Amino acid sequence: MKFFVDTADLADIRDLAETGLLDGVTTNPSLVAKSGHSNFIELIKEITSIVDGPVSAEVASTEFEPMLAEAHTLAKIADNIAVKVPLTPAGLKVCKILTDNGTMVNVTLCFSAAQAILAAKAGATFVSPFVGRLDDVGQSGMELIADICSIYNSYVNFKTEVLVASVRNPMHVVEAAKMGADVATIPPSVIRQLFGHPLTDKGLAQFVADWKKTGQTIPV
Ligand code: G3P
Repeated sequence: MKFFVDTADLADIRDLAETGLLDGVTTNPSLVAKSGHSNFIELIKEITSIVDGPVSAEVASTEFEPMLAEAHTLAKIADNIAVKVPLTPAGLKVCKILTDNGTMVNVTLCFSAAQAILAAKAGATFVSPFVGRLDDVGQSGMELIADICSIYNSYVNFKTEVLVASVRNPMHVVEAAKMGADVATIPPSVIRQLFGHPLTDKGLAQFVADWKKTGQTIPV
C-alpha cells in the first residue's frame, strides 16, 4: 500500500519525506489556500523536487476548455505531476485526453461506486473516494472503498488505483489496507498518529533502563 501525504505544507512534506515512507503528495485548492503560498506553480514545483512519486495538483476551472488548458500547464511542471480533476463530465473528458497522452490523472471528489466506474472507464490513474466526508453525512466511507475495490478487481482492463482520500484517523488507513486499496492519502497529523502505541513507549523505556543496567555499549 502506498502512502501519500495530503497537504501543501512544505515543512510537513520535507519532514515526512525523510522517513522514507512517503510515496507521493496530494494537494487541493483548500490545502493550497491553507499553506499561505501565493505562487501555486512554484509551490507545486517545489513539492515535486522533494518527493519522487506522484504529486497531485488540481485544476481550478470547472468548464472543459479552460480546465484542459490548466491541466496542460500543470502537467508541464514536472514528470511526477498527477493532474487532479473533479469527477464531472468535463473532468472525465480532460482525464481521458491526458491519460491517453501518458499524463497521470487523479480524479477527485468521488462519492459513489457509479462515479468510480466512470473514472476507471476514463482511464484515470487514481480515483479519490472521500471517506471522511461520507462518514460526516452518515454514510459509510469504508463501504464505498470495499465496493470500488471489489468492482475494480472484477475487470482486468480497469487499471485505476483506488486512492483513499479524506482520511481522518488511523482506522481509516487500516481498514483501507485490509480491503486492498492501492493508496491512502493521509494528513500529516494522522501519519504521525500511525507510529504511536502506548505499549511501544512503555516497552522502549523498559529496554533502555535494563540496557543501562548491563553497563555495556554497542560498538559503532
Ligand atoms: O485531498 C482530498 C481530501 O483528502 C480532502 O480531505 O479532510 O478535506 O475531507 P478532507
